[in-house]
Amino acid sequence: MKILAISGSPRKESQSGTHKLVEAVAQATGFDYEIISLRGKTISGCIACLGCVKDNVCKVEDDMVPLRDKLVDADAFIIGAPNYYSGLNAITHAFLERWFQFRHQEGNLLWGKLGVAVGVGGTLGQFPADEIEKLLLYNFIETVAKVSGQGAASCYSCGYGETCKVGIPYFLQGEGVKITPESTPDVRKQPALMASAGDAGALLGRRLREGHDRAAVTLKMQKVMMDKFQGAV
Ligand SMILES: Cc1cc2nc3c(=O)[nH]c(=O)nc-3n(C[C@H](O)[C@H](O)[C@H](O)COP(=O)(O)O)c2cc1C
Repeated sequence: MKILAISGSPRKESQSGTHKLVEAVAQATGFDYEIISLRGKTISGCIACLGCVKDNVCKVEDDMVPLRDKLVDADAFIIGAPNYYSGLNAITHAFLERWFQFRHQEGNLLWGKLGVAVGVGGTLGQFPADEIEKLLLYNFIETVAKVSGQGAASCYSCGYGETCKVGIPYFLQGEGVKITPESTPDVRKQPALMASAGDAGALLGRRLREGHDRAAVTLKMQKVMMDKFQGAV
C-alpha cells in the first residue's frame, strides 16, 4: 500500500502544525508513507484550458508535474492545510484544483481511494479540513476521518502579538495577553489532538488492510455527490 501525505503549509516543517499532524496521521497507519511539503513549490490554480480532457494529464508546467504520478500511484492520501481566512490556504487550494485533470471521460485514476483531511488554524482548523473533504469528494475519494486543531499563529512570533488588536493572541485572551513558550499553542502539546491524529491514521490503516473495495467506495461517493446536487438546482 502506498500512502501519500501532503502538507500544504508554507512554513518550515519544524514550525508547521499542519506538517506535524499530517506526519502523526501517516505514522499511525502502520504503512510506509511518503510525506511531501508544498512549501516553496510553485503550483498555479487550474486555468480551465481543458488541455487535460482527452488524456487526463494537466498541461500546465509547474511543480505539480512531478506530483501527478505520485497521486496516481498512491492508494490513500493524507492531506493537510492551514486555515487562512476561515478556509484553505491558496497553494493547497491550487494543488487540489489541479486534480481536475483526473475527472474527464470517466477517468478513474483516483476514484474509490481513501483519504484523511487535516486542518490547523490559529483558532480552529475545521474549515480547511472540511474543504479538503469536499475537494476529495469531487474525485470520488472517501475521507475516512478529519483531524483539526489549533497551531501557533504567526502573531505568537511576529514581535507585536501582545499589543496588536487584530492578532490572534488578543482575539483569544484580550487585553494584557502575555506570550511565553508555555502560552504558545503547539499541536504536540495537545494530547487529545494528537490522539485524534493517531485514531485517524489507525482507521485509515485498518480500512486499507481490510482490502477496501474501490468500486464500492466510488459508488458510495457518487451517491453523496448526487444527493448533494439533485433537487438543489
Ligand atoms: C494569511 C493568513 C491568514 C490566516 N487566517 C486565519 C484565520 O482566518 N483563522 C485562523 O484560525 N487562523 C488563521 N491564520 C493562522 C494560521 O492558520 C495558523 O498560523 C496555523 O497554525 C498555520 O498552520 P501551519 O503552522 O501548519 O502553517 C492565518 C495565517 C495567515 C498567514
